[in-house]
Amino acid sequence: MDIIVVGAGIVGCAVAHALASRGARVRVLERRQVGQGATRASAGVLCPHIEGHSAPLRQLGVRSLSLYDAFVDRARTDSGHAIEYRRDGTLEVALTDEEAGKLRVVAAQHVAEGVEHRYLDAADARDAEPAIAAEVTAALLVPAHGYVGAAGLTRALAAAAVRHGTEMITADVERIEATGRGVRVVAGGGPFEADVAVIAAGSWSGQMTAAAAPRAPIRPVRGQLLHLACSVPPAVKRVIWGRACYIVPWQDESLLVGATSEDVGFDERATVAGVRDLLEAACDLLPSAWQAQFREVRVGLRPATPDELPIIGRSSATPAIVYATGHYRNGVLLAPLTASLVADLVLDGREEPELAITNPARFGL
Ligand code: GLY
Repeated sequence: MDIIVVGAGIVGCAVAHALASRGARVRVLERRQVGQGATRASAGVLCPHIEGHSAPLRQLGVRSLSLYDAFVDRARTDSGHAIEYRRDGTLEVALTDEEAGKLRVVAAQHVAEGVEHRYLDAADARDAEPAIAAEVTAALLVPAHGYVGAAGLTRALAAAAVRHGTEMITADVERIEATGRGVRVVAGGGPFEADVAVIAAGSWSGQMTAAAAPRAPIRPVRGQLLHLACSVPPAVKRVIWGRACYIVPWQDESLLVGATSEDVGFDERATVAGVRDLLEAACDLLPSAWQAQFREVRVGLRPATPDELPIIGRSSATPAIVYATGHYRNGVLLAPLTASLVADLVLDGREEPELAITNPARFGL
């Protein structure tokens, strides 16, 4: 099977690795470098019980999280790269009594769904994380959560795919057309023909089907993410999640602070307001962060769909086109599941039950 993957973000690289390691001939077309779309602004937080805002999204996230240990192991082994990956949990904190009430409701849901957690009062929250703000009124600890270095993981997946024979080609894709036996991808340096094209182009996925075909209804949502360096060990052991930001403590003692969510079209510039809002929100949770050095701000465009669920599966109009896109805020979390759903579908014709949730046909694709 000869497959073109369009897009080299975390999803495209995970799909390419899964397909190539199972024997397919894979070419990845990407107009920039690996991991420059939504992946660039990802802090890699793996927390379906916080970010799974709907039951189907939670279902996908929990299933994908269960695949993560093996996914990272394979990427490490096949690439030889080191990948930062920790599952020390998240501490979701409340700064007001009203927020504490909301956390109690979430804790009751966790009880009903059998999710391991601990609801902590203010004193216990500070015992767990002594550096958090004195204003913290309560917290919710979910031990299964964690984070992964998204940029490092994406580079490792790309290298692992290449070791399995994948070709990485720099090309700006204009459109994808059906042919008698598969697809033609019209792009600079092309055209390229293949049996199947997997569209994993994130926010740009709606721009590359043939003019007459329906377009994936994806809009870009800008995320800004800060990288801060601490001169003293950062005082938190695990991901801290608050109403206005989250903080990820890296092993090199730096902090990632994410993320804004802005509907500004294809604008990948950082703004003063974005940086200020994140700095203030981070220091409200962790006052010692005021002493950190400012390293950089990263910007990425998240691909949002109207129902905030990804689009994964075969196009009903053009069966040689397979979608693996629209992951919005959850591309890093959902990469292992997406890769395995696509590889099972394309190589074995097997339709896993999760494809019913992500079916492109719900948008007429
Ligand atoms: N998943 C975290 C974010 O999109 O900011």
